[in-house]
Amino acid sequence: MKALVFALFLASTAAVADDARQLVKLPPPAQDALREEMQGNLVALNEVLSLLAAGKVREAGEAAETKLGLSAMGRHRDKPFDARPGPHMPPAMHGIGMDGHKAASEFAAAAKTGDRDKALALLPNLTSGCVACHFSYRTR
Ligand code: HEC
Repeated sequence: MKALVFALFLASTAAVADDARQLVKLPPPAQDALREEMQGNLVALNEVLSLLAAGKVREAGEAAETKLGLSAMGRHRDKPFDARPGPHMPPAMHGIGMDGHKAASEFAAAAKTGDRDKALALLPNLTSGCVACHFSYRTR
């Protein structure tokens, strides 16, 4: 994942000049659901960082697991098919999403032991998935 993000970073100047990201057309209700989830992701990430900075390492782990980790998967499961983002994504894009949930859970497991250094070492993995997907795909 780190190598991927680095490669994407190198490619980012070109991407800005000429948007080379793959366009994925989601049904409007799925796009709305995804956007809402994304705003939640941003808030959750901010919460995790704030807790870590305050030395509340275990609490940061709790928040990461429930809001970003594997525990946060499947929240669109009960919606109509058109409102579920996952099944409308290309498999590779969906895979990046799943890897992101996994990375958040790995961070969470370390943080929940209270081991700050170990948690910090895994922290970048929490954002690598966000970066990898946003640099590869767009929906509009
Ligand atoms: C699997 C791909 C994927 C992953 C992983 C992902 N995103 Fe997104 N994100 C998207 C897409 C696609 C959009 C555009 C949605 C739309 O059409 O408005 C988006 C939009 C957003 C937005 C803009 C929402 C708005 O107000 O319009 C934010 C903020 C965001 N993502 C944050 C995050 C954060 C933080 C993470 C990591 C914790 C993350 N995303 C991980 C695909 C992803």
